[in-house]
Amino acid sequence: MARYSCLLLNDTKPPLPTFHPNFVRGSTRKTVLEYRPFGVRWLCHRYSKGPHAKIDRPMKTETIHPVKALSGPLELPGDKSISHRYAMLAALADGTSELRNFAAAQDCHSTLGCMKALGADIKVEGSTVKITGHGLHGLKSSWRALDAENSGTTIRLLSGILSGQEFTSKISGDASLQKRPMKRVVAPLRQMGADIRAKEDNFPPLEIHGGKLRAIHYDMPMASAQVKSAVLLAGLYAEGKTQVTEPAKTRDHTELALEEFGARIEKRGRTIAINGLAGNNGKAALEPKSLDVPGDLSSAVFFVAAASLLPESNLYIANVGLNPTRSAILDFFQQMGASVNVLNLESKQGELIGDLAVKGAPLKGGVISGDLVPLLIDELPMLAALGPYTQQGIEIRDAGELRVKESDRIAALAENLKRMGAKVEERPDGLRVEGRSAGKLHGAEIDPRGDHRIAMAFAVAGLAAEGDGKILDADCAGVSYPRFFEELRRLVSS
Ligand code: S3P
Repeated sequence: MARYSCLLLNDTKPPLPTFHPNFVRGSTRKTVLEYRPFGVRWLCHRYSKGPHAKIDRPMKTETIHPVKALSGPLELPGDKSISHRYAMLAALADGTSELRNFAAAQDCHSTLGCMKALGADIKVEGSTVKITGHGLHGLKSSWRALDAENSGTTIRLLSGILSGQEFTSKISGDASLQKRPMKRVVAPLRQMGADIRAKEDNFPPLEIHGGKLRAIHYDMPMASAQVKSAVLLAGLYAEGKTQVTEPAKTRDHTELALEEFGARIEKRGRTIAINGLAGNNGKAALEPKSLDVPGDLSSAVFFVAAASLLPESNLYIANVGLNPTRSAILDFFQQMGASVNVLNLESKQGELIGDLAVKGAPLKGGVISGDLVPLLIDELPMLAALGPYTQQGIEIRDAGELRVKESDRIAALAENLKRMGAKVEERPDGLRVEGRSAGKLHGAEIDPRGDHRIAMAFAVAGLAAEGDGKILDADCAGVSYPRFFEELRRLVSS
């Protein structure tokens, strides 16, 4: 197979006129269509009405050339899940918190925007964010609707906090978020006493009339860290002990962060309890903190996958969050035969951190199902896109949740894998991707459907394909990792 020298190119389309009448100003990106002003054919975004004005941006296509290796050192921006939680809790603490290596992810900046609109003072200096909260009852009603943009974590976790406020809030997001189910958080928060209206009783915008909350024991019908977190955060405002039992383990950053900021958390098996602070006469009970956010393992995984795939790779990723509720992906890589070594393991602020050394190695493939699914949920796009390069292929079951993520990820994976020549069977709750024996992949035009993880997964798959490929709307990677393509270019050419 002809492999080219290590180069990825940018093809940036001409910038679009933000004033053109074909655009709805003050709107958010919805999908891609052909835009033909005055006979000129460009690819660009269609914009749908969102809650606030946005600056239109041109669509960027990244060309992916096949390469032989990914080598060098890499440092990652802060973990997205942890950054959301630290930002929200810092805004509820009494005083100024300093959060270093805060996520560069646009999603976390959506959370900062919401907390600012609710009255927290926020200063962003590079990757350090200083947040001054005014206590648990120090938030103020926002005069405009809160905008969670593309971020499910922002809207769902914040719904828990807004349920405990003595004022009414409206929160929505972009076109993708407006299609994502919210009943899963609305139902338990209503049980706690919040009055919440939603479009079709399920979708954003949400109108949340908060107030006095009662403690409940919520047996979650689904394994979701976002649902668990919404209930625990509402539990801060309830009188007594709020408990959540999860059907399978999910990421525990909310519990750890709440403890870090001074809340009282108890854990027994799959049940987590929080002692509400409503009994404290409204006195501040969360303390401001000075914290370092570990590097984002879910972002690291794209590079772990790329380095594993390319035989001559030698990659060193420093300071990665290795919380056991997130690190099942590394066990899975090791089971597949990947060469991933963990070094310099240490515990910081309740979170495990370490470095990863990755070399190229043949991958066996495998099956992901049952309780493993919530532990690998964000890594499934990357694993599926690796499928055609593995010996046995990749099979994903029990993962119907993937259909209601930033895109319908099962459909997006099946469609784009087929474009590259893979043999794929799409199923309601997952997919089966045939391994190497089904033939080699070729570069293709990938439509990530505005989904950051689909864009990054296929950029990696393209590195080992035959011939060049293109990732349309590549900037959507910024939802979790704005510098992804820059770092990829650096590591393939070093
Ligand atoms: C997240 C939880 C997961 C994950 C999402 C981030 C979080 O969602 O997919 O990217 O930060 O709590 P679910 O809780 O819906 O599984």
